[in-house]
Amino acid sequence: MIDYKQSIADSISIVTNVESNVLKQYIEKPPEQKLGDYAFPCFKLAKELKKSPQIIANEIKDKIILEKAKIEKAEIVGGYINFYINKNSLISTVLTEISEKKENYGKQNIGGGKTIVIDYSAPNIAKPFHVGHLRSTVIGGALYKIYKYLGYHTVGINHLGDYGTQFGKLIEGYKRWSNEYNIEKNPIEELTKIYIRINELCKEDESILEECRNNFKKLEEGDEYCTRLWNEFRTVSLKEFQKVYELLGSQFDSYNGEAFYSDKMGEVIERLENSGKLVESEGAKVVNLDEYEIPPCLIIKSNGSTTYATRDLAAILYRARTYDYEKALYVTSYEQILHFKQVFEVAKLLGINEKYTKGLIHVPFGMVHLKSGKISTREGNIIKLEDLLKEAITRARTIIEEKNPNLENKEEVAKKVGVGAVIFNDLSNSRIKDEIFDWDQILNFNGETGPYIQYMYVRTKSILEKAEKLPDIKEIEFSKLLDDEAIQVINTLYNFEETLRQVVEKNEPSILARYLIEVSQNYSSFYNEHHIIGELKEVENARLYLTYACNQVLKTGANLLGIAMPEKM
Ligand code: ARG
Repeated sequence: MIDYKQSIADSISIVTNVESNVLKQYIEKPPEQKLGDYAFPCFKLAKELKKSPQIIANEIKDKIILEKAKIEKAEIVGGYINFYINKNSLISTVLTEISEKKENYGKQNIGGGKTIVIDYSAPNIAKPFHVGHLRSTVIGGALYKIYKYLGYHTVGINHLGDYGTQFGKLIEGYKRWSNEYNIEKNPIEELTKIYIRINELCKEDESILEECRNNFKKLEEGDEYCTRLWNEFRTVSLKEFQKVYELLGSQFDSYNGEAFYSDKMGEVIERLENSGKLVESEGAKVVNLDEYEIPPCLIIKSNGSTTYATRDLAAILYRARTYDYEKALYVTSYEQILHFKQVFEVAKLLGINEKYTKGLIHVPFGMVHLKSGKISTREGNIIKLEDLLKEAITRARTIIEEKNPNLENKEEVAKKVGVGAVIFNDLSNSRIKDEIFDWDQILNFNGETGPYIQYMYVRTKSILEKAEKLPDIKEIEFSKLLDDEAIQVINTLYNFEETLRQVVEKNEPSILARYLIEVSQNYSSFYNEHHIIGELKEVENARLYLTYACNQVLKTGANLLGIAMPEKM
């Protein structure tokens, strides 16, 4: 595709002798369409050229030779030079690219095969898979797909919470009361009940707490009975989690959870000891982080057990060696910001190549607030994610039943719409913001929602079906798409590549979600303003091709977010 920014930068470079790549970074989007497609802020060069922005603007404007086939004209406004793209070239470059790449439009190789480790989802064994984990699963899953699309080698890791002293308690509770609970049927709920009950008992009776500690110790030593139980808890929990992953289409390359590092923490402690920074504090071993104005990182508790942080440090060593990563992302709620600050600082003391500690990135997200009374909760206020997704599907089915009772494959469509609505809702606001979960809003077909995007997609699909045959790109007269609405659509489609690059630059899938809303809204305005089928053949063909282009981009973009598109709805 034509890179217009590059063309502008090259032309300015000849006049100013400033390197083209530097100039390219300065180029902006003007605040209003009528001010052109790109703007160059001349004040950026004032220092270097020792002239006022106004003079620089005049000089550039006088001497610049534009590649007319790409850039039509340049105009000065204040200290800016505004550039207007040649619209025919824009239409041609976008539609030709889409005709060649089809569902791979936007695919790029900026990653060059470098490895990105994405640590996401990571629910805790024998505990409910709560909404925070849903966000991690959805955000991490989208990043996983988008990085891959941009040429990175991605490794998705589900760092399960399958280790810790609580397992000693769970084993004790299980030993005592397993026959009273139907663990087979409702593993997580029942194990949670056992956990609550044994905790109560521990509070009353110190000797039972001692038993629990003992169980954990035995588990660490590989005791057969304890290990068997732990394995069973892990297996039944994973089986439950898998139901959610299946609904969401989540993929992982590794399920190495915390327990995987149980025999790998010795090396962390040794390396920290060598650094001289591991100090005793009230019987525990910590690394002081006063100089960063954060609390010390606890490495070994006073009772001798390791911590969540110690396991994360072991995981960094392991991942650096195993994956030789460029970046390692951790997708969790913002409640863990401090934890990762500590861990990333302490990691610098492990004596590993700086590249690995530089690549550590925490990708935090906000909390979910449920609009009260609107969500079905179970006893103990635990919302099972599987139930939440199923409820979304049921609600979608009801809407479909009302709107289009004769639809084929209603079940499949309801699943795509319901699950898509939940995913899109999660991704459509910048991730750090808290999210409000409101059923009516997320399923609104006319709002800025998943169903709205799916609906626009289905619309493009049905127009294309009516036309029966997609014209060949060679037959398209690009000049038939010069009206404002069509140009708006084309402009947006042109930005797809750039949008994907921004997503990975900021680790922010919401940029893509917002982008898909923009494509849908622009297409909708175009469609409301213009007839497609039944116009003069050249006009019809051109508009059909534009419809096809939107259809491709909507589908590709939604799939990258983890949203499946129905073909009818
Ligand atoms: N299991 C943790 C939790 O529920 C999340 C783990 C995130 N990943 C990590 N490497 N610490 O809070």
